[in-house]
Formats: sequence, C-alpha cells, structure tokens
Amino acid sequence: MTFPDPLRAYFPHTAEQIYLNHAAISPFSVPVVKALHGYIEQRHLTEIENYYSFQPVLQATRERLGALLHTSSERIAFSPNTSSGLAVLATGLSWQPGDRILLNALEFPSNVYPFENLRRLGVEIDYVQPRNHYLALEDFEAALTPRTRLLSISQVQFLTGQRMPLRALGQLCKQNQTWLSVDGIQALGATSLPVEELGIDFVASGSHKWLMGPAGAGFIYVSERLQAQMHPAIAGWLSVTDEWNLLDYQLNFRADARCFETGTLNFMGIAGLHAALGVFAEAGFDQIEAHILSLTGYLQAAGQELGLSCITPADPAERLGILTFELEPERAAALHAGLTAARIESSLREGRYLRFSPHFYNTQAELAQVVALIRQQL
Ligand SMILES: Cc1ncc(COP(=O)(O)O)c(C=O)c1O
Repeated sequence: MTFPDPLRAYFPHTAEQIYLNHAAISPFSVPVVKALHGYIEQRHLTEIENYYSFQPVLQATRERLGALLHTSSERIAFSPNTSSGLAVLATGLSWQPGDRILLNALEFPSNVYPFENLRRLGVEIDYVQPRNHYLALEDFEAALTPRTRLLSISQVQFLTGQRMPLRALGQLCKQNQTWLSVDGIQALGATSLPVEELGIDFVASGSHKWLMGPAGAGFIYVSERLQAQMHPAIAGWLSVTDEWNLLDYQLNFRADARCFETGTLNFMGIAGLHAALGVFAEAGFDQIEAHILSLTGYLQAAGQELGLSCITPADPAERLGILTFELEPERAAALHAGLTAARIESSLREGRYLRFSPHFYNTQAELAQVVALIRQQL
C-alpha cells in the first residue's frame, strides 16, 4: 500500500467528490467525527458535568499543538480563530505614536485589521507590494525601519500560495529588533513550524483548514520573550494563577501563555481538534508535506501544458498546498462552475483566481481527472 492509503479511508467523501478546497475548510476525518459524537453523547446522556474530566484533553491538545510548533505546551493558548489570536498580539503590546508594523498587500484581512485598528494610537502600517503576485525578501528588508516593531505575515499566502522564507525573515527581524508574527492557518497541517529555530515570536491559527479540525477551535503561540513585553488586554477568570479561589480577587496573571485565555473554552471544538491532531501524528509531516508538494507540482506542470497562467511560485521551497491559476473573469467563472457541477471542489477568489488546495489524502489520479475536465472545458 502506498501513501495516502490506508489513511484515505478516514475520508469517505472521496467516494462522491474530489475535494480540493482545504484552503477554505476541510472535511472531518472519521476520528474527528467519533470524538465529536463522543463529546455530544457525554453532555447529552452521561457525564454532563464534564469540566474536570475534560482537563486532560485540553492539556493533551496543548501538547500536540506544542509538538506541531516544536515548542512547549506552556507557550500555547486556545483562541477562537486567527483574527482573535492576532488581536491578542495587537492589543497586548504597548504602542507609542510613530511605531510601525510591516505587513504586505496580499495578506488575508485577518492579518491586517487587528493592526490597522492601532492607527488610532498613532501606529503606522507599511505594506510591502508584490511584484507580479510575488513577495520578494529584499522588499521586506528594504521596508524595515528602526521604528518597525512588528512584522506579521502568513506562513503561506492565501491567494498566491507563496510559502514565505520565514528563516530569512526571522534573521532580518532579529537584526532589526522587530517581533515576527506568523499567521499559520494556510500551512499548519500541511507542514509543521519550528518556531524557536526560526526566531518566530507569535503564531495564530484556526484549525478548520489544513489541520482538519472544527471551526472556532484556534490557538496562539507566544514566546516567553515576547510575553514578557505584553499585557493581556482582556482578563478573565481563567487568566489567573489561582482560578478556583473564586472570591479572592487577585489578578495575578498566569506565567504561561494561558494568561491570554479568558473563560470557559470551546470544549467540543477542542475535542475535535485533539482527534484531528492525532491523525497527523499517524501520517507524519515529512510524508504529508512531500505528498502535498508532489500534488501541487503535478497540477502546476499540467496547467503549464494547458497554457494556464499560474501565480504560485514554481520552486517547491516557495509553495506548499495552494496552487492558483489566473484567468479572465468569464473563463474563471465558467471553469469553476464546470468543476463544481462535476463535484470537484475548488475556490474562485476575487473573480479571476481559481485556487486548488489538495491535502494529504488526495491522489494524483484525482488530479488527473481534474486536468482532463479542464482540458475539455478550455
Ligand atoms: C491567511 C488566512 N488567515 C486567516 C484566515 C481566517 O481567519 P479566521 O481564523 O480569523 O477566520 C484565512 C481564511 O479564511 C486565511 O486564509
């Protein structure tokens, strides 16, 4: 049996459709469905007050997320989604008028608005402009100023699929004394992220895309160094060291990243995330990443043969699971509709970008069917 078998059996929708839209949202695997059912049954029928018995699942999930980011579980906190995670960072640092934040003009808005919202404090936002859809390292280097306190960037760009050179960006940020924050949602699950080795101080991600977990069960990573410079903008009963001392109101923030958790968490979502992370442990990220890269490479080569314009970098070091073609709007809409009618799921973005995002359980045979259909329609 060759990869992705036998894990493909966790995804029975493959009998009915070719799902290539993991950059939007992922199917639940069989283990995730079981975990969610188990949680629902418990709250419905058996151990209704499950607050205490659920604590080990919370901790085990933090540990799995720590392993995903090659760091300690103490540096992980749950957060509903990427936007709220990045807002923890934006609101947790103290800003001076004239401080600058470096973004780029291709980011998904989750990685923009939490920072744009700081303009009222006198913070300036700079945007690196893409060159024909490509974000060049030297443009980030040129845009860093002595006042740039933070660079926030996606690990993989949502539209172009460009995988960012985080090691090099980490070095630039270190030299410039700039914090590096990463939106991991378009990469984590297709790969892992060694945050400490790469000099990354903050990560935010939801888990419903490449991590194949439920919506609303996201998380953040914050380095010890960065946390020492932050103050939680929101305090809740679970932010403190002695949370069960209910009437002794000592606002002593926890020393670990959980000071950014406020109150009762999304237990059901986290039960699903715990199971989803277990599937990745079975598959192994080396194998997952190599397989996904071979799928996007296959689609890129086929697109080139068909004369399609691809905006995703060709170098395998600069892409991962997203592959996007740019077409005339009418043609893009027709092609997307034709694929959808054939039960092939992709995304149409900004009217002219047709985005494919295969995951580890997809096969080259599925992509060959997609290519055959595109060939017919062109
Ligand atoms: C790069 C990126 N960040 C964030 C999100 C989603 O943000 P949130 O988790 O806040 O819904 C998306 C897609 O929806 C995305 O592509």
